[in-house]
Amino acid sequence: MTDLLPLPEGVQYKAEVGSTMDEIRALARAGAPEWTVVLADQQTHGRGRRGKVWQSQAGSGLYFSILLRPRVTLSSLGLLPLLVGASLAASIQSHLGLTTQLKWSNDLLSLDGRKLAGILLESEVIRNKVKFVVLGIGVNVHFQEFPKELKAAALEEFVAVRRGDLLRVILKQLRLDYARFLEQPEFALQLWKSFPNNLGKIVQILEPSGDTWSGIALDLDSSGALLVQTETEIKTVFAGEVSLLR
Ligand code: BTN
Repeated sequence: MTDLLPLPEGVQYKAEVGSTMDEIRALARAGAPEWTVVLADQQTHGRGRRGKVWQSQAGSGLYFSILLRPRVTLSSLGLLPLLVGASLAASIQSHLGLTTQLKWSNDLLSLDGRKLAGILLESEVIRNKVKFVVLGIGVNVHFQEFPKELKAAALEEFVAVRRGDLLRVILKQLRLDYARFLEQPEFALQLWKSFPNNLGKIVQILEPSGDTWSGIALDLDSSGALLVQTETEIKTVFAGEVSLLR
């Protein structure tokens, strides 16, 4: 806990929760304001995308969720993970001097290709209107034993980090970037492309159906979908797991 102190103002701290996603969801339904933040030192049921577990040992990472009530269209909401990933990359670069790379759509990797941070967005939408979004961010800060297949890395393998200080920088940067996103959602694309990313590289796509195929990641379209050049056509990937082949 010690390197979490001093906690940024307004952050609700829990030593242990199931998942900070569920904590924020409950607060959202009870009418909590935007930018309510719950941070846990440890999660017993930390979750990632596609039903994966997010390993969240005590004393190791930053595990937090933020309540947002974005007044944007459903289509713009697809740009939010890109904005958040790029905002994280900006904070890590400015605060720690560490360059990272963005992997479409929600991941932040070390330059040697291991996962440093992940982003999970869960939204409540009623009649095509976004009621609220729970934005979950997990950053691997201190070293923990990761299963090899996770291909994970911790920030402290590269640079010394105090979790509380990093959290303060991340929240400040995110508020600024989110304000620009609300004014102009395409800002997310601009910011994402300004950091090292997997465009121009050979990628393998694992479809939600389980099918895999590969091609060159060409660009993002205006909705944030990934355009991939295969041998025969340009395919648009809206959802799917991307791995870097080269
Ligand atoms: C992913 O890369 O699959 C997304 C990982 C998101 C993990 C964070 S940790 C804080 C919040 N609480 C959770 O249970 N998950 C998110």
